[in-house]
Amino acid sequence: MDFGDLRVVALHKHPECLIACCDMINDEWPRSLTARLNSLQSSCDSLPTSLILINKDKMLLGHCKLSRIPSFPKSCFVETVVITKSMRGKKLGTFLMNKVEEYCKNTLKLDMIHLSTHGQQDFYSKLGYVVCHPISIYGNYKQNETVNVKSKKETFASKAKAANEKIKAPPPPPPPPAPVNDKPDKIFMFKKLF
Ligand SMILES: CC(C)(COP(=O)(O)OP(=O)(O)OC[C@H]1O[C@@H](n2cnc3c(N)ncnc32)[C@H](O)[C@@H]1OP(=O)(O)O)[C@@H](O)C(=O)NCCC(=O)NCCS
Repeated sequence: MDFGDLRVVALHKHPECLIACCDMINDEWPRSLTARLNSLQSSCDSLPTSLILINKDKMLLGHCKLSRIPSFPKSCFVETVVITKSMRGKKLGTFLMNKVEEYCKNTLKLDMIHLSTHGQQDFYSKLGYVVCHPISIYGNYKQNETVNVKSKKETFASKAKAANEKIKAPPPPPPPPAPVNDKPDKIFMFKKLF
């Protein structure tokens, strides 16, 4: 395998690969073509982004999707990682994940990656991922949020204070309920990007 011939690119910049990508993913996780197309067509420069692994002839070899995690704005959730069946065991999955990490760090300016896996823990461990608590990829709760606000109390107490003084926001709302791990043998993992 000549890795120099391989590229990891955004699917939305290569629409000619869309149907092949649907077929490859559906071959692993069957779903209607329409549903799969809808999901893949949401790919854009800001998340969600589908990245694909192609060779110099634009033959599709792999895919992975990056999604936003509202509670971890400096991370993203990697899902639907797949290498086309006939090409597995040749380090293409490793190549894809290495390029995905570069993209997250250099293009998206992220500090870490989260994912969940059902049976591929060893593959991700070899890439440096470690097991972590389950996280939710839903919601919009932000921890330690500091906003530039002026409380009424402060306005009455001291009109002389600078108008744009930064003060701590009131205590944040309680965190959302702990994410439910719907598949007990699903493992959550993460990796810091250095
Ligand atoms: C998981 C997957 C992406 C790995 O891609 P790949 O190209 O076959 O993996 P690589 O050749 O880069 O393997 C790298 C290492 O991980 C190991 N590995 C790969 N898949 C593994 C698995 N399922 N279980 C345990 N180890 C695995 C390899 O043996 C290799 O180990 P080595 O470095 O000691 O030789 C691919 O097998 C696949 O598409 N699987 C089906 C879809 C899937 O389950 N995706 C993961 C969703 S969480």
